[in-house]
Amino acid sequence: MRTQIEEIKEKLNILEIAQTYLSNFRRSGANYFTLCPFHNEKTSSFAVNPDLGIYKCFGCGESGDVISFIEKMEGVDFPKALEMAANKAGVELKTTFSKEDELAQKEKKKVLSLNNLVAQYYHFILTKHKNGKKGRIYAKKRKVTAVLITKFNIGYAPSSYTSLIKFLRAKGYKDNELVRWGFAASGNGRIYDKFRSRLIFPLIDHLGDIVGFSGRSILENSRAPKYLHSPQTIAFDKSRLLFGLSEAKNSIRKSDAAILCEGQLDVISSHKTSITNVVASLGTALSNKQLELIKRYTSNIKFCLDSDYAGEVALIRGANLAHSIGLNVETVTLPQGKDADELINSDPGLWVNSIKKSESIIDHLILRLEKRLDLGNLDAKENFYKIILPIISGLPRKMDKSHYIHKISFILNIDENILLEELDNLTTRENLSEINSAKVRKVLESPAVKKEEYLLTLVLQHTQFLDCSFKTCTPRHVLSPAARSVLEKLKKYKNKKKRFVLKNFIAGLENVEVVLVRKLLITKLDTYFKLENEFEIELTKLCRHLKHNYLRTKIRLLKPQIQSAEEKGDKKLSRSLLEKLATLASEISKE
Ligand code: CTP
Ligand code: MN
Repeated sequence: MRTQIEEIKEKLNILEIAQTYLSNFRRSGANYFTLCPFHNEKTSSFAVNPDLGIYKCFGCGESGDVISFIEKMEGVDFPKALEMAANKAGVELKTTFSKEDELAQKEKKKVLSLNNLVAQYYHFILTKHKNGKKGRIYAKKRKVTAVLITKFNIGYAPSSYTSLIKFLRAKGYKDNELVRWGFAASGNGRIYDKFRSRLIFPLIDHLGDIVGFSGRSILENSRAPKYLHSPQTIAFDKSRLLFGLSEAKNSIRKSDAAILCEGQLDVISSHKTSITNVVASLGTALSNKQLELIKRYTSNIKFCLDSDYAGEVALIRGANLAHSIGLNVETVTLPQGKDADELINSDPGLWVNSIKKSESIIDHLILRLEKRLDLGNLDAKENFYKIILPIISGLPRKMDKSHYIHKISFILNIDENILLEELDNLTTRENLSEINSAKVRKVLESPAVKKEEYLLTLVLQHTQFLDCSFKTCTPRHVLSPAARSVLEKLKKYKNKKKRFVLKNFIAGLENVEVVLVRKLLITKLDTYFKLENEFEIELTKLCRHLKHNYLRTKIRLLKPQIQSAEEKGDKKLSRSLLEKLATLASEISKE
């Protein structure tokens, strides 16, 4: 192989190759300089020397030859970069594939070319054909613009059961191939199109190949699943695909961070803003392979997941996995329980700001857990560090570990040495990467949250007493975001309208809130109150408890802030925080 590698390198001019990725080269002696693609800079310190066939950045130190350049720019491994270089050089690689490998390669090529054809077909229907009208209406409703439709090669599968099949048969494809590769299913002795009435997103891998498809149903209230994906084929492995990566990779490298969202539309919409380093997994648990893919471009990942219970578990699990391969983890919290797509379409500036305000995973979890747990209680303290410590132990940097141990020792009022001992006792890395989700569930569904949900359930199931409800209850004292915002909206609704109509109320809620309200409405209450005064007594008791918890949580959150203000010597800040603390403390003592 060595001689072949040399042959390829000789045939390729590294400057020409570099110019297909980068522009504005300036000559200086034997070298050509431009802005480095591997780090952020304002002056050009990236040099290419075509005579020697090498590049070097005098800013960040990256250097190598044409093959490693392709490796890094494309985010591929060495064999793949070699193959790409060979193609560019017009050299045929002498490979040592076995017969089976060769057959597999052939089949894979066939699937890829079929996928290309299918993508063109669906795209044509969405953009040009009369049968694409419903798709165009839906795209417009979802604010998917023409630019995005082109950029992501989005298409539409019409409602027909045979439209794609007919097209592909005419192109010479066999029925069994269409079934095997996930475009058709068979029933009653015939085959029919699987993707129907769906907006179609081609799934493009990091090399730019269309490996499969994902379809979003445009039908509301239909029994069909909301999303349908291609099955596993020789070309498509869900656990190795990150949606949007091929469009995001340059910006991931430039900004030195990747944002991981939940859905395809989150990724697509973010391209309407300046944030383009966004990818999504296809609604499945994040895999090691996907994280390894990200690591080729950056060592920083920002999770932007739902802040509901499932999202939180996914976050904890994902953070552990990411740490185990050396990625730094931050989290992005979106306001009002919206997903990225919803937020971008209502307030794009807020989306950009939320990204800017990403915070370390540990800080995020500390806040979350503090809100959910009653940390005066020993069991709660233990639960708290049982979740946090494994994550701290996975942090790639030692400095961060000691910083957070210090912080947690302060919050829990537990000696640092005890926490350090616990940290040492933790089992090996492999065990940590799969966090016990039953444990997390137990903690996240803690009594504090249960109480808040109970309050909301009471109120929702006694809407005949709405006036009484809001005489007693202050939504501000409810800490879990979804429950609080439902209560706030309920209060607003009550102030505006006379009669409570569930349907109308629900129409004004966000998705997460609707889910919560539905869940609570079908919850069976131990007592259903017929008399307003009995209802009021129960509510008053509950609200007093919640207020108390609210004040204590606020106080707990203030303490580390005061400490850090004092450490920094910020007298003004520490004084104002201390005043706040005093106010809260006096409110507590009033009770
Ligand atoms: N998903 C899926 N099958 C479903 C629902 C969801 O595969 N029945 C995947 C999709 O990749 C989806 C992701 O999980 O993008 C997140 O799901 P969800 O939050 O429910 O959907 P959104 O991304 O918000 O989709 P939309 O905005 O179109 O409702
Ligand atoms: Mn969405």
